[in-house]
Amino acid sequence: MSGEKPAIGVFGAGWVGLVTGACFAELGHEVVVRDVLPERVEALQAGHLPLHEPGLAELLERNGERLTFTTELDEVVSAPIMFVCVGTPPTYSGDADLSAVWTVVNHLPSLEERAILVMKSTVPVGTGETVRSALDARGLAHVGYVSNPEFLSEGSAVRDFMSPDRLVVGAFTEADAGAVAALYEPLDAPIVRADVASAEMIKLAANAFLMTRISFINEIANVCEATGADVEQVAKGIGLDHRLGPHFLRAGIGWGGSCFPKDGVALKQLASNSGYHFQLLNAVIEVNELQKRRVIGKLEKHLGKLRGKTIALLGLAFKPNTDDLREAPSLVLASRLLAEGAEVRTWDPVADASNVLQGVTFCDSVLDAVTGADAAVIVTEWDELKTLASEEVRTAMRRPLILDGRNLLDPEQARSAGFDYEGIGRASSPLASLPETEEREHQLEA
Ligand code: UDX
Repeated sequence: MSGEKPAIGVFGAGWVGLVTGACFAELGHEVVVRDVLPERVEALQAGHLPLHEPGLAELLERNGERLTFTTELDEVVSAPIMFVCVGTPPTYSGDADLSAVWTVVNHLPSLEERAILVMKSTVPVGTGETVRSALDARGLAHVGYVSNPEFLSEGSAVRDFMSPDRLVVGAFTEADAGAVAALYEPLDAPIVRADVASAEMIKLAANAFLMTRISFINEIANVCEATGADVEQVAKGIGLDHRLGPHFLRAGIGWGGSCFPKDGVALKQLASNSGYHFQLLNAVIEVNELQKRRVIGKLEKHLGKLRGKTIALLGLAFKPNTDDLREAPSLVLASRLLAEGAEVRTWDPVADASNVLQGVTFCDSVLDAVTGADAAVIVTEWDELKTLASEEVRTAMRRPLILDGRNLLDPEQARSAGFDYEGIGRASSPLASLPETEEREHQLEA
C-alpha cells in the first residue's frame, strides 16, 4: 500500500477493468487486476495490451510497480475495495448475461476483514438488491455493496476516467458510499449519491438517452434528404440551444459498440419483463437498424444492382481510435453487400476483422482498398480518411463515387475533386439538388 490509499482489486481485465485499474494506479493505489483468461493475464504481465485504447499503454508502463495482473482469486480479494468490471453480454432473450457477475459474488471467500464490492459492470436495475441478499445469506453482511457505473467511451476512456462529468455512487449505507466517493476525490468531479437501484438506472438511462439523440438526428437527416435541408446545419442550429447542447447530434450510419446495442436491448427487456412496453426505446433501436441498411439503397441508386460491383468499406471499427468490432455497422454492411453479390474490399488502421468476416478482401492501405472500386463507403471516421477525395484515389477507382457514412468530408471539395459525393442528410446530395421532376419523385419513393 502506498500512503493512506487503500489497495484496489479489479475483477476483469477487459476495457473497463484495465482502464479502471490503470487509472487508480495512476492515482497512487496498489491495484491487482484479476482475469480468468490465463493468456490475457500472461500477455499483460509481459507488457502486452490486448486492446487498442489511446493512453492506456503509457499508464500501464508508468504505473507498472503498482499494478499486478493475476488469475488468482486470493490476490484480488485481499483488497479492501474490489471493483467488478466483468462483461455482461446479451443473452438470446435480450436480458443481460450476469453469469460472470455471479461467478465473482459466489466465489468470494468468507472475508475476515470488512470489504466493499463495487459494481462497475452495467447490470439490470435490481441486481444490487439481489447481490446484497446473496451476500447476506452467505454470511457476508460485512461486505458492502456499491453501484458505481462507468461512463467511459472507448477511444477516450482514460480521459473520461480522469476527467469525468460526474460520478455516480449508489450504496446501501452512508459509510460505503463515502468510502467509494473518497477514492475519486482527487478527480474533483461532481458526485451523484443515489440509492442502488437509481444508480443502476442512471447508467441505463444515460445510454438510452444518448442513443435516442443519435437516432433522432439520423431521422432528421433522412427527412433532410427528402426535403433539401442539410443536417449538419440543422444539428448546429439545434445544438447551440443550451437546453439541448451540441453532443451526440452527428448524423451517420448508426451506432454500434460494446455498450449501446447491448444496453439498449437490456433496458428494453428489463422494462418488458416488468410489464412495461418501452415504445420510444423500441423505435430508437429500430431506427438504428434501418439506418445501417440505408447505405445499400444509396449505393443502388448510383450503381444499380450491386451484383458484380466492387465496394470499398473504409473503416471497420465501430468508431475511430478503437479496434473494437462489437456490433460495428461495418459488419452488417459487409454482410448485406456480400448477400447482394458485391465484391467487398475493406481497410481499417487497427481493427482486425479476419475472424468475424468471411469472403471480403482485407487491404493494408486505403489506396489498395479503393483500387478498382465502384464506390468507397466511409464507415468509420478515421483521420486517415479526411484526405480521401484525392487525385490518387479518384484515378485508382473504377468509378469515383464516395458515400460518406459519417459526413467526414466537405461535399463541395469532394465534388470539385471529381467525385460523385453523397453524405447523410446533406442538402448538397445529388438527390436533394435535383429539380422537382418525375425523376426526383421516383428517387424519393425508391
Ligand atoms: C458509450 C457511452 O458513451 C459511454 O458513456 C458508455 O459507458 C459506453 O457506451 P462508446 O460505445 O465507447 O461509449 O462510444 P460512443 O462515443 O458513445 O459512441 C457510440 C456509437 O455512437 C458509435 O458507433 C458512434 O459512431 C455513434 N455516434 C456517436 C453517432 O453515430 N453519432 C454521435 O453523435 C455520437
